[in-house]
Amino acid sequence: MNKIAVVTGAASGIGRAVIERLSKEDFMGVILDINDEGGRQVAGEIQRRGKQAAFMCVDVTQEGAVRAAFDRIISDHGRLDVLVNVAGGSLHRHKIEEFPFEHWRAVIDLNLTSTFLCCRAVAGLMKSQKSGAIVNISSDIGFSGDASRSAYAAAKAGIVGFTKTLALELAPFNVRANAVAPGRIATPRVRATYSDAEWEAAAKRIPLGHAGEPEDVAEAVAFLVGDAAKHMTGQTLHVNGGRVVT
Ligand SMILES: NC(=O)c1ccc[n+]([C@@H]2O[C@H](COP(=O)([O-])OP(=O)(O)OC[C@H]3O[C@@H](n4cnc5c(N)ncnc54)[C@H](O)[C@@H]3O)[C@@H](O)[C@H]2O)c1
Repeated sequence: MNKIAVVTGAASGIGRAVIERLSKEDFMGVILDINDEGGRQVAGEIQRRGKQAAFMCVDVTQEGAVRAAFDRIISDHGRLDVLVNVAGGSLHRHKIEEFPFEHWRAVIDLNLTSTFLCCRAVAGLMKSQKSGAIVNISSDIGFSGDASRSAYAAAKAGIVGFTKTLALELAPFNVRANAVAPGRIATPRVRATYSDAEWEAAAKRIPLGHAGEPEDVAEAVAFLVGDAAKHMTGQTLHVNGGRVVT
């Protein structure tokens, strides 16, 4: 029987690269995403390559929707081996004194609360299985900060603290939790928000001289969920071309 990997935000960008990478390892991938059309498309493409994939249209910021989705996954498959929390984004940029509360809440909910809700939904099952691996996607901004992105920096730094605690709670049950902190990654969404000139200027500030690809992040995730990382938990892997050195 294939192992089951749930990846949030896998209808595009980094999440899509992650689920495609894990499907090459013969995981059955379950996409949780709010983008109905994109999610169906990614699942369909994986299936056409002869691999197993499913899509569920879920808003991962909503407690009831997350609970219902994982209840269904667990009842359909009886197990869950990997959870990768990718859904997120910086959404809003404001100076701190002008940051609307609803924008703050939206960024925290999308990045941090969604990660908490999905991890909480799988923790009991993984503990009882005595196996499982979780990877949460942070950001280099969670380490460096970024003027005008206070909520995003707080949420992504929060993911690291949350992941460390999760790792300590789950370690006695042979369940591992780690984080990956990407730097600038050329996903369609991110690339579209910059002009060519801005993109080139930003690339020069990255020591390796260019932005990363979604597949670079997917490789780090595949490593962390695999047996090669069986003695790693509570850690953060940085995939940022050297932009932030910790
Ligand atoms: N691209 C980068 O440069 C970069 C850098 C550092 C960290 N990250 C992080 O990586 C993750 C993915 O980034 P990306 O560039 O691939 O973004 P993306 O916008 O391409 O993908 C995000 C996915 O999440 C889904 N999503 C959004 N809100 C959702 C919700 N409420 N419920 C379920 N799904 C939802 C979207 O539909 C989309 O498919 C994010 O957490 C982001 O913060 C990205």
